[in-house]
Amino acid sequence: MPNNFSPLRWGIIGPGAIAKRFADDVSPLPDHKIYAAGSRDKAKGDAFLAKYGGGNAYGSYEELVADPDVDCVYVATPHPFHKEHALLALRAGKPVLCEKPFTVNLAEAEEVVAEARKSGVFLMEGMWSRCFPAMRKARELAASGAIGKPRMIEADFGFKGGDTTDAGVLNVTNPNGRLFDVKLAGGALMDVGVYVVSLAQMFFGTPDRIKAVATLGTTGVDENTGIVLGFPGGEVGILSTSLQTTTPFKATLLGTNGKIEIHSNWWTAKTLTVHRSGQDAETITEPFGGGGFQFEAMHVAECLRGGLTESPIITLEETLSIMRTLDAIRAEIGLKYPME
Ligand SMILES: NC(=O)c1ccc[n+]([C@@H]2O[C@H](COP(=O)([O-])OP(=O)(O)OC[C@H]3O[C@@H](n4cnc5c(N)ncnc54)[C@H](OP(=O)(O)O)[C@@H]3O)[C@@H](O)[C@H]2O)c1
Repeated sequence: MPNNFSPLRWGIIGPGAIAKRFADDVSPLPDHKIYAAGSRDKAKGDAFLAKYGGGNAYGSYEELVADPDVDCVYVATPHPFHKEHALLALRAGKPVLCEKPFTVNLAEAEEVVAEARKSGVFLMEGMWSRCFPAMRKARELAASGAIGKPRMIEADFGFKGGDTTDAGVLNVTNPNGRLFDVKLAGGALMDVGVYVVSLAQMFFGTPDRIKAVATLGTTGVDENTGIVLGFPGGEVGILSTSLQTTTPFKATLLGTNGKIEIHSNWWTAKTLTVHRSGQDAETITEPFGGGGFQFEAMHVAECLRGGLTESPIITLEETLSIMRTLDAIRAEIGLKYPME
């Protein structure tokens, strides 16, 4: 009988911090099931799954991808392991949703994408910010000419360890943690700078000019980074990311005839304020419960049920292009990771 992915049975590689947030949002969905977890420690997998009604816990990632009833694998390990774990799942014939940043660099991303294309198995970068209804609406408005011709995007995403923000999860306090660890490809750019780059590229495509400055911290990763992207159509992106200061969390798309403000926080957008020249501002709200990972999971289900091998919201070409940009920014700021 053909699999209609109802429910879509998720298998999670690396049940850590982000996997828990994903599972909290996805487990209440009626046609999704947090079905299995692969951990280096089976007991940890069992404890993780208990919260979601139990499931198949495995003491290795290999066993997880071999489970015939896992429909889709969510790769939720730190990004230096994304290539290995995405390849593991794809080679087992499993569709893959791979957390951002997709990999450490373009060369790794190309290997993963090549495998998916060769085997015809679904693969998507977990750039969840693109899946929110308000963000999809912003994209539609921009394309429809609501603010004239979009010419510039200004966006920031930075936070300081210890700061309290309305996105409590950003309250990172561990200076010895993943974010500051050069061996785990840490730094602001790879952790949250990828969001602002992805946002600019969502509106303007692949940049043809890339400039950046950064302050590297004592552990060798970028902690305070400014980026300017130029696009073939003459559009410009002014972007910032930081681990030293909490930024305003603003994203504004500026057009020849108005602007769209995306908030709040823009990468989990709920509200748009659309300013059209000569008119009162319009507020568009797309409220939702939970953290928002449900939209990404529902989108993956839609793609799988439609027989797609990649997502129209973030194509594999776009993922490669974003990785190319991240490589170029890192070349500009002199940030090379030990595994490269
Ligand atoms: N979309 C978002 O909003 C968002 C937010 C935060 C992070 N992320 C992304 O999600 C990924 C994971 O981040 P996280 O904060 O969840 O990471 P984490 O909790 O530090 O690690 C996730 C899991 O990866 C597994 N793992 C395998 N090899 C590992 C190694 N050598 N060192 C550490 N862990 C290893 C561990 O699972 P086992 O021990 O059980 O095998 C661990 O629990 C990153 O790529 C990050 O950029 C996305």
